[in-house]
Amino acid sequence: VLVPEKSPGSPPRVSYSTCTTLPYPIHVGSGLLSHLPSLVPAIGAAHRVAIISDTTIAPLYADRVAAAIGKPRCIGVHIAPGEAHKTRATWSSVTDQLLEARMGRDSLIIALGGGVIGDLAGFVAATFLRGIPFVQLPTTLLAMVDASIGGKTGVDTIHGKNLVGAFHPPIAVISDVDTLASLNSHQRASGMAEVLKHALIADSAYLDTLLALAWDQPVAAEVWQGVILRSVEIKAAVVAKDERESGLRKTLNFGHTIGHAIEVLLGYTLPHGHCIALGMVIEARIAVALGICDPSLPQMIEQAARHLGLPTIIPAALTPDAIIAATRHDKKARQGQVEYALPVRCGEMARNDGSYAIAVGDDTVLAALASR
Ligand SMILES: NC(=O)c1ccc[n+]([C@@H]2O[C@H](COP(=O)([O-])OP(=O)(O)OC[C@H]3O[C@@H](n4cnc5c(N)ncnc54)[C@H](O)[C@@H]3O)[C@@H](O)[C@H]2O)c1
Ligand SMILES: [Zn+2]
Repeated sequence: VLVPEKSPGSPPRVSYSTCTTLPYPIHVGSGLLSHLPSLVPAIGAAHRVAIISDTTIAPLYADRVAAAIGKPRCIGVHIAPGEAHKTRATWSSVTDQLLEARMGRDSLIIALGGGVIGDLAGFVAATFLRGIPFVQLPTTLLAMVDASIGGKTGVDTIHGKNLVGAFHPPIAVISDVDTLASLNSHQRASGMAEVLKHALIADSAYLDTLLALAWDQPVAAEVWQGVILRSVEIKAAVVAKDERESGLRKTLNFGHTIGHAIEVLLGYTLPHGHCIALGMVIEARIAVALGICDPSLPQMIEQAARHLGLPTIIPAALTPDAIIAATRHDKKARQGQVEYALPVRCGEMARNDGSYAIAVGDDTVLAALASR
């Protein structure tokens, strides 16, 4: 969709595409933050709007959002950045601030930020006055292609991540790719791992597209728009068929059983996507060892990961035994057997009678980890 540029002084040029697979629209494009009320009519209709963000993102983008909505109606709620603040304590402080500001059921929440803000503000929206509408404005690549899609919201606890939460879909997701310009290279590469995962689980032609693009140079807005839209379409199609993760949605866990174990063992010092890239290589090797996967896939994943700025070698300090032990603590473990979502070839995952989950013995995992 192209809206022509207007006279000088008008908001910047806007161009976007929309994924309509889910009950709410997902708009991806450039200049969108300045056009929010026309993109989401409910924003214009809301009595009050709380813009929930963090202290890194707010100085960069909150003014643009508030100016587009009309400042007098807006309340800015800014939390400290980082996963450490995705907690019930922050939820409690944010909900108190909304109550003190006398926000009512006719108000709306905007989540402006990465996945931490999306999950936290979404959980606030799910619970505040028993649930009010919210709009996701993801500002990291990972949040645009993954965290903002699918309706899962929540906070972390000392017992683990995302253990208290709710399904509460946004009324719209607006991914303004202009915000990606301020991301650092690690955050960008981390999001690329989920993009790579989407290509590997569902669309081999998309992998070819990713490999044909140069990622070590500045990326044009139109390129981001195309790449993010394709990832969004893939995740949205999976979520639309299996909202509550009884089968197909498990394919989105590809790389995450081993990847999450690595992430935990490293104390979350390596970005999520980097761990998932390592996990996808190992899990593809497991699938080859089980005789269900094209033998060329692990190497194909390694090459693609390198092209996208992601690691392919597990830090030497992590022993195979420690990684296997860590997989047992994963939510995906059932009765001691750890389950994996495994690939058949690039673009296709093993169905296993529609469960998309395969229990794998320790010996097979050990061999895959040892062959690094
Ligand atoms: N709900 C879901 O389905 C789902 C799916 C995947 C991940 N998640 C969650 O997402 C979170 C991770 O999200 P993330 O990777 O976006 O991390 P994040 O939200 O912590 O953001 C990373 C850092 O980047 C900063 N930042 C954000 N946007 C920026 C920008 N445009 N320019 C400069 N700095 C910016 C943030 O302030 C933060 O310090 C995790 O909590 C994870 O559990 C949720
Ligand atoms: Zn992930």
